[in-house]
Amino acid sequence: MSDTLVPAPKLVAGLADVPVVASSVSYIDGNKGILEYRGFPIETLAARSTFEETCWLLLYGKLPTRAEFDGFKKRLAEQRELPARMIDMLRALPGAGHPMHALQASISALGMFSRKKDIHNPDDVQDACLRIIAATPVLVAAFDRLRSGKDYVAPDPTLDTAANFLYMLTGAKPDDFAARVLDVALVLHAEHTMNASTFAARVVASTEADPYTVCSSAVGALTGPLHGGANERVLEVLKDIGSPDKVEPWVEAQLKAKGKVMGFGHRVYKVKDPRALILQDLAKKLFERLGSTPIYDVAVELERQVEKRLGQRGIYPNVDFFSGIVYAKLGIATDLFTPVFAISRVAGYCAHWMEQMVGNKIFRPDQIYTGGHQREYVDISLR
Ligand code: SDX
Repeated sequence: MSDTLVPAPKLVAGLADVPVVASSVSYIDGNKGILEYRGFPIETLAARSTFEETCWLLLYGKLPTRAEFDGFKKRLAEQRELPARMIDMLRALPGAGHPMHALQASISALGMFSRKKDIHNPDDVQDACLRIIAATPVLVAAFDRLRSGKDYVAPDPTLDTAANFLYMLTGAKPDDFAARVLDVALVLHAEHTMNASTFAARVVASTEADPYTVCSSAVGALTGPLHGGANERVLEVLKDIGSPDKVEPWVEAQLKAKGKVMGFGHRVYKVKDPRALILQDLAKKLFERLGSTPIYDVAVELERQVEKRLGQRGIYPNVDFFSGIVYAKLGIATDLFTPVFAISRVAGYCAHWMEQMVGNKIFRPDQIYTGGHQREYVDISLR
């Protein structure tokens, strides 16, 4: 018997560059800084589309006709209503808890109110995706108001997703420009190939779990500071640094201590994330309109200093670097930045869930065992 024929399996840490699905939802060229949803460049979608149209595109793979889009928008507006007990549940959650935890719990709970989640029934599939995309912003805004002792503001069916979210947070209709800025930010965050939370969604989907479970699991994965949670950390860092002249010593100390600079680096992009370019431009437009934010100058200097030291290694700003500056200027609380990411990304999760269901095979990778064998069990009295 030969023991030389079977090659030893090789461990790929973080599954870097390992394809785990075949997908037509989105595409990235990390060297050229290209991102496309269903073949459409992100720059075109940011300039010409809307978040709601982008959701349709992600779910169905093509742009909607006027009639399809009007019907979709109407259904989204209808699906924003929450059951009274859902609002009671949000009120009962600890106000000091993180809104991402509230969101994860409440998407899961939302599934308990739905009887239409048979994954083999096409109508249920459409209903569940619509419900999740429509209700996620409502859950975030409702938790934010209730945790601070304010009244729940019911959704306004005449507003689109972005405008309604800002309205539900404040109780006042947002101006069109602010709503459009948030709408573009939602377009930018809706989908991004096999990132950690989308992969989590596909793994859970592969077990034939229902879409609410898929999305709440993915939202859990998005929470971490190496992923969606970075946007919140970026603003904290910029505030801590305080002024552009303090950036260089801060970067020196951070890199010397082998610390990560939040909002920089990406597994796929080796150039500046195209979404960061668009968000930076949005931030500038917001400042022209609403007045500048000193923190922006700190961000620009931080980018310059990090690029000087790490640019040659392909470490540039990612999507999380400028998003917080934009959200803060829109009056959104820092701990809602990652939930705002989630409001948008659930569209991508749903698109991947539907794709996973076609020819599904449960994820069950292998491992390289590093423990012992046939160990002797010693009775507890003798240990
Ligand atoms: C998102 O995957 C997606 O698409 C995610 C996302 C999406 O839309 O879904 O784009 C959203 O999650 C954006 C990323 C947000 N996270 C951060 O901003 C946290 C800071 N960034 C890093 O931790 C890191 O760059 C990651 C997590 C984004 C990528 O991690 P990798 O690919 O595993 O790279 P790594 O951590 O192994 O770093 C490789 C090298 C290391 O140096 P060496 O050990 O080789 O000497 O690059 C260095 C790292 O120390 N490095 C950084 C750095 N990022 C990488 N050094 C300082 N600061 C950083 N930010």
